[in-house]
Amino acid sequence: MKRWVMIFIVLFMVSGCQDNPDKDEPAENGNQTENNENNANTEQTGNKDNDKNYETVQFKEYPGKIAPEFSAKELTEPPSGNWLTNGGNLHNGRYSPLGKITTENVADLKLEWVTSLGSGMEFKYSGESTPIVYEGVMFNITGANEVSAIDAKTGELIWQYKPKLAEGLDTVCCGWTSRGVAVGDGKVFVGLLDARLVALDQKTGEVLWETQVDEWEKGYTITSAPLYYNGKVYTGVAGGEFGIRGYMAAYDAKLGRQIWRTYTLPAPGDRGSETWPKDSRGWLTGGAPVWQTPAVDPELGTIYFATGNTAPDLDGSNRKGNNLYSDSVMALDADTGEYKWHFQEIHHDIWDLDPANPVVLFDVKMDGKMRKGIAQAGKTGWVYILDRTTGEPLIGIEEKPVPQSEKQKTSPTQPFPIGDAFVPQTVTKEDVKKDLPKDFNGKIGSIFTPFWDKPVTVKPSPQGGANWPPSAYNPNTEMFYVLGNDNYFAYAHYGEEEQEKFEQGKEYIGSVWQPVKDSPSRGTVTALDIKTNKIVWQKNWDTIAYSGILTTKGNLIFTGHNDGRIIAYNATNGKKVWEFKTDAGANAPPITYEIDGKQYISIFSAGNTLAGTKHGDKIYTFSLEGEYSSLEDIPRDDINAPPEKNEENKEKHGDDEAKSENGGGTVSTGADIYKGNCLACHGAEGAGGHNGPNLQDSKMINDKKALIEQIKNGSGTMPPFKDTLTEEEINAVAEYLMSLSKGEE
Ligand code: HEC
Repeated sequence: MKRWVMIFIVLFMVSGCQDNPDKDEPAENGNQTENNENNANTEQTGNKDNDKNYETVQFKEYPGKIAPEFSAKELTEPPSGNWLTNGGNLHNGRYSPLGKITTENVADLKLEWVTSLGSGMEFKYSGESTPIVYEGVMFNITGANEVSAIDAKTGELIWQYKPKLAEGLDTVCCGWTSRGVAVGDGKVFVGLLDARLVALDQKTGEVLWETQVDEWEKGYTITSAPLYYNGKVYTGVAGGEFGIRGYMAAYDAKLGRQIWRTYTLPAPGDRGSETWPKDSRGWLTGGAPVWQTPAVDPELGTIYFATGNTAPDLDGSNRKGNNLYSDSVMALDADTGEYKWHFQEIHHDIWDLDPANPVVLFDVKMDGKMRKGIAQAGKTGWVYILDRTTGEPLIGIEEKPVPQSEKQKTSPTQPFPIGDAFVPQTVTKEDVKKDLPKDFNGKIGSIFTPFWDKPVTVKPSPQGGANWPPSAYNPNTEMFYVLGNDNYFAYAHYGEEEQEKFEQGKEYIGSVWQPVKDSPSRGTVTALDIKTNKIVWQKNWDTIAYSGILTTKGNLIFTGHNDGRIIAYNATNGKKVWEFKTDAGANAPPITYEIDGKQYISIFSAGNTLAGTKHGDKIYTFSLEGEYSSLEDIPRDDINAPPEKNEENKEKHGDDEAKSENGGGTVSTGADIYKGNCLACHGAEGAGGHNGPNLQDSKMINDKKALIEQIKNGSGTMPPFKDTLTEEEINAVAEYLMSLSKGEE
């Protein structure tokens, strides 16, 4: 495939971020774990006050207490008053022991306060953050990576931090987003999309230290929430679509200095390197990013996370072997980063079926014995349930033979967990009749069906199964709750002569992938018995399920819907017991907390680019004493918002990023609008996207009228843009797409 070459003019680099001296040659010396414990490396940190690369605004005095250096016990207890870590506590189970709101009274849950953050409204941003709550203050981050401290009782803003993300940042693969922040030791820790890790003063939002974790130019970004534990801040890196070398790293919470970094790809000679071809540079560009916040078991001194796919995602022809440690649950020593064990979910992945869902730790009695478990919900549609002391399956996972492709060098077997899958894993003839266009006559297949030059339509898609939206575990029901996506997806390899070469900072996927035109997208909400991995109840949705789950002692689960609803189900039987409609796609996980004996439920509802949902910027908080049954009931003036926000709202496209950066012609304006609104689904320059067809190959790009109609009205899972873009903007994007036509260069 010919690639359109665009020249981005990098105006100037953001000042104030200093180079990480380690980064240029990522451990070419071969060590899988770097340990910098005794190696004072202060150059890595620092913020220049005179040269600020951020703004802070203080709206009112900080009302709460300053977070201490939390003990392991505080961080492991189920979250009651506070919501201290991204996953609720170090176990990531998103279970709250608060029980004031129950299945009996949840119908009375009403809106207590709403806060409009005035940030991240543009279509390219996705609101995926789990708020943190500490002693009456909530911390939240938007898709624009702007952090707000909010009075958790009233919704009033306390401060906002607005980073200037790197100029020219163009290596964000899957929507501009952040999944949350961390709190501890008087600081708020933030991972930024341009691969910086920042510590803010909890009281003011001012930057205390800033560390350049890696180079976004090479495809490294941070989308996950960091984790604070034992004086360290842990973060992984995203970027699996760019040929990176993934890792988990620990930073000193006081200084921002790197303590250790453990690569998820073994260097030649390291344990696991035998799963790559000899002389391959796979260990330097083989992907295996870390998309989610890790979990920690302080008793075992172990940190757990799952790794992403191998790069190039869909081309296995040059990487014979299992390609460790991609697509694996990994356990490392939390202090030193040393390897403890791994479990690989997909060997030699060619389907981008990588585990993006956060791992969950749980303790349960099985056959009369207490077991220390870990569960990871895969894109494959299975939950992988392991013993977290050893990495051995708790219930059973069988290696079974799978169909083979010599060209793709597929693995002879794949792991099949015992139990039920939570989404369909095959496309049947009945499915074709029921769901696909009449003229569909392509090849169909199942999970692990290989592909080469002819497209094969399979399930699940690279969207999952389970994607990033976090799962939950309730120790009372002993059930694991998971959201699933159910889409049709077609894979095909490029022609022989079109091998994709690795190019630093460019997408590195290795094949063509396509959602299937005019096919439906569905989702599931599933409760699985943790002791059997079998479905107890399941809800079927007519959209993907793309939010996250909270479960409580009140025997409830809460989750968000693409149509804007936050929904509560009875945790035992799945009966719907409450819902409330927000004004945007409810695509982030809900949380709960308590202040002065009152239990609150909160969700950041701001829409999502990949899910194609309506965008917004509000946090909704509910309680049994709340006053409002709908957003319309709240007097406008009672919606908290930054003062300038109302002004901004009057201009339709308040944020000047939507305007041309290139300062010329319709095509370059169109390119900018494309980057903001279309790239996440359709990929850079119209190819390689995650949720939209290849536009370079589309017949439509030679038909301006049809293009404009498509952009205005959308179709399938593509949202309409007639209300978000002006006529001129739509025209400019159409012109840009026409310029991608293969005839032109
Ligand atoms: C949420 C993901 C998503 C976003 C965002 C998105 N699209 Fe799409 N787009 C799709 C999907 C899915 C289809 C296939 C639609 C169908 O099945 O009918 C599609 C189809 C198209 C087509 C028709 C291709 C063909 O050959 O039929 C064009 C053109 C297009 N999109 C352009 C755009 C432009 C321009 C934007 C930004 C303004 C955009 N899309 C934003 C998902 C998306």
